[in-house]
Amino acid sequence: MFYICIAILTVFGQTSSSLTGPLSSDFQNWLKSNQYSSYDFVRSDYGTKGSYGGFTKTLTKATKTPVIFLHGNSDSALKTSSLSTGWDNSIDYFETKGYTSAELYATSWQDNIAAKAGTRTHNCKDLTRLRKFFEAVLAYTGSAKVSVVSHSMGVTLGRKVIKGGVVNGTDGNCDLGPSITEKIDVFVGIAGANYGLCNCAGTFGLLAATCNKKNGFWPGDACGAYTSTFCGRAATPCNGLSTYSRLLDEMNTSNNKDGSYVFSMWSKADDLIGNGDIVWGRPTSLVPLSDGKIIYESLTHMQSKENTAVDQYKLVTSKKV
Ligand SMILES: *[C@@H]1O[C@H](CO)[C@@H](O)[C@H](O)[C@H]1NC(C)=O
Ligand SMILES: *[C@@H]1O[C@H](CO)[C@@H](O)[C@H](O)[C@H]1NC(C)=O
Repeated sequence: MFYICIAILTVFGQTSSSLTGPLSSDFQNWLKSNQYSSYDFVRSDYGTKGSYGGFTKTLTKATKTPVIFLHGNSDSALKTSSLSTGWDNSIDYFETKGYTSAELYATSWQDNIAAKAGTRTHNCKDLTRLRKFFEAVLAYTGSAKVSVVSHSMGVTLGRKVIKGGVVNGTDGNCDLGPSITEKIDVFVGIAGANYGLCNCAGTFGLLAATCNKKNGFWPGDACGAYTSTFCGRAATPCNGLSTYSRLLDEMNTSNNKDGSYVFSMWSKADDLIGNGDIVWGRPTSLVPLSDGKIIYESLTHMQSKENTAVDQYKLVTSKKV
């Protein structure tokens, strides 16, 4: 009876996770003293769920390579709603494996309002802020490298943060500074849209900001003789003939890896990307120059993040599939 009770409590304890942020007060104080206050990495508008990570009285240093978790469009650092499930499952799992808040970092970008998803772009404001978050975590932990676990739009935002350089955004132009690729150990991209999204083709490329041709998810409207209707068909032989979002194209052709080890994960049943992840004959979630990939048969877009903590951990720590 005693053992049964323990088992039930354990299971219950895991499923009703009450992971709480925000950034530790030690990290918050450090950010204040180092001119990062204006970036609001804490995001107290989400109470304890807007961010995570930092040293405490008992955890005074990062002994493992820190991991930065970067969420997708309309999600949040930790769970703020049934749709915005954050990184709770991943952070919980990494902590059962010995990681601590001194080594696990996340901040929220934009907001969790799904109705505003169409307004998000890879813009100067968000990219600059996230780049500063990466720089802050590196400087604060004193670690030579960090690893990154990213989901959905967090994949392409993260790749640009790492590549640095000029952003010609819909909100203006900016320069993120030099590439920090050599400071990234493992980069994991889950369900990203590295070659755009087929549902951004045709008129949607003009209607929704997130689909725009400059710094959005425009996949290209045609490929040779094929019209946009063929974008998601696996058999369409496109071979790089389509012109797609300029920022995405530049990131691909820059031909530099986003870390020492790069891995891609996606699901053929992704309900947001659709078409089995295919965009003009290629899996759009395959980060260029990946060292390996894990493909799921039946996970949704959000489940590809929520239900794969074990694989995320495996890739970050073993650096192989
Ligand atoms: C892109 O941004 C850079 C850096 O701010 C700027 O010098 C350049 O003129 C911009 N290019 C375009 C096409 O807007
Ligand atoms: C990505 O860039 C490589 C060259 O670095 C090119 O061969 C390939 O066609 C590009 N893929 C896409 C989808 O643009």
